[in-house]
Amino acid sequence: MEDMAILNIKSLPDRLHRQLQARAAKEYRSVAQEVVFLLDQAIGQESPASGRKGRGSHGSGQCSRHALGRCPDSVVIEPGALIFHPENVFLDEGVYIGHNAMLKAYYKNQLMIGARSWIGQGVFLHSAGGISIGCDVGVGPHVCILTSVHQDPGRARPIMAGAIDVRPVVLEDGCDIGINATILPGVTVGKGAQVGAGAVVTKNVSPFAIVAGNPARLLRMRAKS
Ligand SMILES: CC(C)(COP(=O)(O)OP(=O)(O)OC[C@H]1O[C@@H](n2cnc3c(N)ncnc32)[C@H](O)[C@@H]1OP(=O)(O)O)[C@@H](O)C(=O)NCCC(=O)NCCS
Repeated sequence: MEDMAILNIKSLPDRLHRQLQARAAKEYRSVAQEVVFLLDQAIGQESPASGRKGRGSHGSGQCSRHALGRCPDSVVIEPGALIFHPENVFLDEGVYIGHNAMLKAYYKNQLMIGARSWIGQGVFLHSAGGISIGCDVGVGPHVCILTSVHQDPGRARPIMAGAIDVRPVVLEDGCDIGINATILPGVTVGKGAQVGAGAVVTKNVSPFAIVAGNPARLLRMRAKS
């Protein structure tokens, strides 16, 4: 039966075929958005992609360290730090999480922080697309790391109603992110690189580069010794 339907559609004139395809894609999108909404409701995520008004609470973010995907005894988590979807948060030996930092993991993808890395006070890590922080990385106070962006849904709809594209962020071993810097979705900060205070990092940063400003630009390369 399905085969017959496909044959019939394929034998239609091109223009009609294209119109049907476009209609089917639109229908598919709205069904997919509904599914996203229902899933998000079930797991307590807000659901801007669905275009619906409902908002589920994300919860308090307060959780036991035993709820994390990995959290050895040597990890320090200061008072006021909030952790969402702790099952997707993996912390290695000696990690420090400062006061009031927010680790906003997601129902998918992982937020990983390597050994001895230091996450400053009030840092905001939004890990919808996954965040991978290497070993011995410094993340200054109030740094923001973002991993998602809304597709443009067209002018008739609010941007927040656009489907979400997720792009992971990677901070390689030994790099350092200055206070108040923002790292945008999809960026990799290379090994040993330095990001200046207040920088907005829109592109990958080469290993051992020093970048600063908005948008972040190369100041110079670090000395070899
Ligand atoms: C980026 C940084 C490492 C550069 O240090 P530096 O190599 O000593 O740089 P300089 O002070 O020689 O400045 C070089 C140029 O970059 C500019 N600059 C330096 N830091 C800047 C910043 N954060 N944003 C914008 N421009 C900056 C300077 O104004 C100077 O510009 P000019 O050549 O036009 O005068 C440093 O300024 C910085 O921001 N460090 C981060 C500190 C921090 O947040 N620590 C967190 C502690 S937990």
